[in-house]
Amino acid sequence: MKLGVNIDHIATLRQARKGEKPDPIEGALVCEKAGADSIVCHLREDRRHIQDKDLSLLKKVIKIPLNLEMAATDEIIKIALKEQPSQVTLVPEKREELTTEGGLDVKGNLEHLKKVIARFKKAGISVSLFVDPEIPQIKASKEVDSQSVELHTGSYAETEGEGRAEELKKLREATEFAISLGLKVDAGHGLNYENVVPICQIPGIERLNIGHSIIARAVFAGLEEAVKEMLNLLGGENANR
Ligand code: PXP
Repeated sequence: MKLGVNIDHIATLRQARKGEKPDPIEGALVCEKAGADSIVCHLREDRRHIQDKDLSLLKKVIKIPLNLEMAATDEIIKIALKEQPSQVTLVPEKREELTTEGGLDVKGNLEHLKKVIARFKKAGISVSLFVDPEIPQIKASKEVDSQSVELHTGSYAETEGEGRAEELKKLREATEFAISLGLKVDAGHGLNYENVVPICQIPGIERLNIGHSIIARAVFAGLEEAVKEMLNLLGGENANR
């Protein structure tokens, strides 16, 4: 199972002060060094986290593939064609949402998506569609000539108890169906250190794209060291402990 690390929330923290730090490019390099298979970022219409310059720099600096999540709008398509990430993942986007809420309605946007995918293919950029684990959306993904789908694991992540087994079953069946059509299958959204293992065990999923939980974990994995470094600079009685 491959891991794509979404670095959006390093940029979220930076944008809280609209300064330079923490730098998502530096973050991407740490993920690469740690063994991540790809870097994921989402250039949103409202630029709430990743900025245009981040995308240009990421493409230049990292050696592993860059997967750009994006809405299929004219503005972002133009930027993506210019920056040439290895892959784009088309997602639905609403300004008021906190994060990508549901999967893309591929079935309801066949003609538009067919044209967009053809443009990316012509430019040598592979395309994935972020869809709910539903058979009609997967069928439609094949119809519009996508190479891959990323299955939305948000409902699985949000469902507790018996409902979770049902969500897992949907993901397993959707994976099997997508593979039978010749699509590559990735998955992601809401995955964390507690819920990732059953998803990992679904045969056929090639890659998980995970962001928030890894960046959230990094805060506590690094906080003790960060406090010690500051105490050492202050040189008080708690220095060098
Ligand atoms: N995959 C897609 C298509 C997403 O939109 C997101 C959120 O940006 C993720 C994966 C990662 O989700 P999370 O941050 O909850 O791990």
